[in-house]
Amino acid sequence: MVRGASSVLLKPKTTEEVSAILSYCNQHKLAVCPQGGNTGLVGGSVPVFDEVIISMALMNQVESVDSWSGVVVCQSGCVLEALDQHVAEHGLMVPLDLGAKGSCHIGGNVSTNAGGLRLLRYGSLHGSVLGVEAVLASGEVIDCLSTMKKDNTGYDLKHLFIGSEGTLGIVTKLAINCPPRPTAVNLAFLGLQSFDDVLQTFRDAKSKLGEILSSCEFIDRSSLECVEENLKLKSPIEPHPYYMLIETSGSNGDHDEEKLNTFLEYVMTSGQVTDGTVATEPSRIQHIWSLRERIAESLIADGYTYKYDISIPLPHFYKMVEDMREHLGSSIIRCCGYGHIGDGNLHLNITSKEYEKEILSRIEPTIFEWTARVKGSISAEHGLGFKKRNYIHFSKSDGAIGLMKQMKKIMDPNGILNPYKVLPDN
Ligand code: MLT
Ligand code: ZN
Repeated sequence: MVRGASSVLLKPKTTEEVSAILSYCNQHKLAVCPQGGNTGLVGGSVPVFDEVIISMALMNQVESVDSWSGVVVCQSGCVLEALDQHVAEHGLMVPLDLGAKGSCHIGGNVSTNAGGLRLLRYGSLHGSVLGVEAVLASGEVIDCLSTMKKDNTGYDLKHLFIGSEGTLGIVTKLAINCPPRPTAVNLAFLGLQSFDDVLQTFRDAKSKLGEILSSCEFIDRSSLECVEENLKLKSPIEPHPYYMLIETSGSNGDHDEEKLNTFLEYVMTSGQVTDGTVATEPSRIQHIWSLRERIAESLIADGYTYKYDISIPLPHFYKMVEDMREHLGSSIIRCCGYGHIGDGNLHLNITSKEYEKEILSRIEPTIFEWTARVKGSISAEHGLGFKKRNYIHFSKSDGAIGLMKQMKKIMDPNGILNPYKVLPDN
């Protein structure tokens, strides 16, 4: 979708090296593009022209794990899955999980405020990241690397670096609060006949599973068909219009199973759920998760994917997919919806054999106008990057955009940090 033409890529190993690079680039007004695992979906980590790429891949050291508090301090280039395996040795887990875990970097996750599959349980990175060390465009190192859960000393500047996609500074280290690793995990894969049933089942999952509910995901028939057709993965149940994945995580298997069984009995007796299966062994859990996690990958095999990542009030959640499908008719291969229903986050994806300007012009800005009408967000978790920046006004007021521009001027007066990203052209 996006491609730059950089001739220089630098791989610093230390904060001092990042500082020296930025100080040089700032003096010579050279634009830089910070890059983590390069798994973003809005072109945030891809150079637009010939920016100097600063890859964080070699800054992959875990500095400390405090098994009393669960606070872990690491460099930003740690791969999410590797970091999770590292903290697992201390009985902890990283409170973030997403399909790209095998290659995305924790620093990239922080810079984009990635959400993922368990935000419902563990909250956003604005909550779990306790401290950040970042280097400003000038090369100055800003130490906000607090490891305390409570630190109310003035402006909480770390939040400026969480989700600003490398436009205000480069995150070099972070402190993250890691919860205990659950010892009992169950995953239910459910089939449902109507979207109202999906909503009711989500409400029942919250009230009946309570503190053990760790994920609630949604897949429509078209998304599941895509994984089955393009990746040859097998669904554990018969075809349904809608599916849900409901995960529980806790510390007492018998207690959790009893709760889950009561919940399942309720939703099946009431007719909201018409088929389902529960996995408890890691390999089956893994297989069922792959049906959800690999949808994005399966869509690529159709040809070109028009990707949308929208926050939307739940009563409107699926209507958007239906409206888009009707609006686009037979000009496309598929229009499907899946995502983090527990967070009101819809991934609406449309595919065609090849990129077609005509299709794009029928989708945008209609989709953003639709979202703004119901007071949703045009980017729930993927960020704005290069691709969505000029649509920011659908979700932010002029005043807020003006203040963002002023902050950018203060922190990066020469505009060298990840230019053409996040902020709109006008
Ligand atoms: C996901 O939840 O699968 C990711 O955000 C990627 C996507 O939107 O397809
Ligand atoms: Zn997602």
